[in-house]
Amino acid sequence: MAHIDFGGVVEEVITIDEFPLERAREVLKHETVAVLGYGVQGPGQALNLRDNGINVIVGQREGGGTWQRAVKDGWIPGKTLFPVEEAARRGTTIQYLLSDAGQVATWPRIKQCLDKGNALYFSHGFAITYKDQTHVIPPADVDVIMVAPKGSGTTLRRNFLEGSGINSSFAIFQDCTGRARERTLALGVAVGSAYLFPTTFEKEVFSDLTGERGVLMGCLAGVMEAQYNQLRKHGHTPSEAFNETVEELTQSLILLVAENGMDWMFANCSATAQRGALDWAPRFRDAVVPVFDELYRRVISGKETQRVLEANSAPDYREQLQKELKVIHDSEMWRAGATVRSLRPENRKPHGA
Ligand SMILES: NC(=O)c1ccc[n+]([C@@H]2O[C@H](COP(=O)([O-])OP(=O)(O)OC[C@H]3O[C@@H](n4cnc5c(N)ncnc54)[C@H](OP(=O)(O)O)[C@@H]3O)[C@@H](O)[C@H]2O)c1
Repeated sequence: MAHIDFGGVVEEVITIDEFPLERAREVLKHETVAVLGYGVQGPGQALNLRDNGINVIVGQREGGGTWQRAVKDGWIPGKTLFPVEEAARRGTTIQYLLSDAGQVATWPRIKQCLDKGNALYFSHGFAITYKDQTHVIPPADVDVIMVAPKGSGTTLRRNFLEGSGINSSFAIFQDCTGRARERTLALGVAVGSAYLFPTTFEKEVFSDLTGERGVLMGCLAGVMEAQYNQLRKHGHTPSEAFNETVEELTQSLILLVAENGMDWMFANCSATAQRGALDWAPRFRDAVVPVFDELYRRVISGKETQRVLEANSAPDYREQLQKELKVIHDSEMWRAGATVRSLRPENRKPHGA
């Protein structure tokens, strides 16, 4: 374990220098890792584990397009691909990567499939932390562990294929075998984490729910729309409003932030832009504090969980979601965005094509 200074606070971090892949293979050599669910995280983690030489099987409900996708990825029905419960019975480590609502729905059956000494692995603290709502209460004779990649399963796989990784948090909720920690770290490394930082199930889910509702997705979408609408209200064209709101951010400025931080991005903008950004950042920060306060309260009280479980377990969940996404897709702002993207030099079709 390395001790690394994050902005003046020293934290513990596991890198592949301390826990190399060879050690992960050694720790997992007698395990059958059953990855349940083949949505977004399932394929990323299962394929990386397989390519890293771990004995892995997939559990997926039969009959739908997802099962077919697993077959296309080389999982063999009856050999490495099974219905969810059968895979859970065959596994010694059970990676519970159904959607969070799917975990709640299947738990009464999955819990019957666990044997003493198994590891029950999550990639989110959701099911365990909100146990009063999810009713996911593991038996005392299994390890309960978490590796939560901080990014999409698609990126986890893509980075792995490119030879890099993604950072993940890890936590141990229950250690019945005395091996929970080494199992967790081994799995963390083998699923393709570049480094792992410790957390708890509770902290992971509170920060994750806040982040995705906040800056990562919800807040970002909201402030973009507000600025676009403001510019349109004052007679700016859709192309101008979109370019000044989204395109310049995604194509230029956020890449500079990713590379070297906010101050470096500011330093590489005009003096006019810098002055304005430095003056206005505190105004926006202070304006959203009450919203973040409310958000965090709702996260820890379980209200956000209730909302997710109710919405995602509705029988017409997918149709409703498609409707909501279509409203965004068909809006002027995002139609303008599609046109702006099509005009990027790399996307432009030759004239007349
Ligand atoms: N998305 C990410 O990149 C990401 C990132 C970090 C952590 N996580 C965590 O990783 C876990 C998996 O998330 P995900 O986004 O990969 O999930 P997802 O894409 O929504 O997973 C869907 C999977 O769950 C199955 N499923 C859903 N409801 C089911 C039910 N009632 N019975 C049987 N199977 C059911 C689906 O089967 P069908 O296709 O047949 O419906 C599919 O295999 C979650 O705990 C999530 O919070 C996700």
